[in-house]
Amino acid sequence: MNAKPRTSILFVCLGNICRSPLAEGVFRSVVTERGRHADFMIDSAGTGAWHVGSAPDPRSIEIARRFGVDISMQRARQVNARDFERFDLLLGMDRNNVRTLRERAPEAAAGKIHLFLNYADGRTLDIPDPYYTRDFAGALELIEEASAGLITQLRNPAV
Ligand code: 4NP
Repeated sequence: MNAKPRTSILFVCLGNICRSPLAEGVFRSVVTERGRHADFMIDSAGTGAWHVGSAPDPRSIEIARRFGVDISMQRARQVNARDFERFDLLLGMDRNNVRTLRERAPEAAAGKIHLFLNYADGRTLDIPDPYYTRDFAGALELIEEASAGLITQLRNPAV
């Protein structure tokens, strides 16, 4: 009964309107497809506060919809101090996100912070920000790869 602890994962980018909402939606869809939904608590946040309360960028909503995932109900929020306690993993979309998280994290939480693409095949480190590059399809592709790698690595739910 309720024996297995859930693994909690926070996906983090800069604005929480382009990449991390996609990561949240795609990873949730991947774990649901594999019947693992109950094993995870999944959320996303931004290191910046510019878009707090906003829906994802319409281009992220559209590319997710093509992938079969509805992210339109998500609302942006900023990473806060409690996130470093609540979450088992805080996964940055690029090295800037990881650097910012490490600067803000208490020492005890440093080991929870990783680059999301560490879970992909290692060719690419950063998910380039489509807010600037406009390449939402490319971001989605990298997010799919990293999500598949992450769920494989977390086959045993204890992180
Ligand atoms: P994201 O993209 O970090 O993938 O959500 C951005 C969205 C907005 C801004 C920067 C990045 N901005 O500066 O407003």
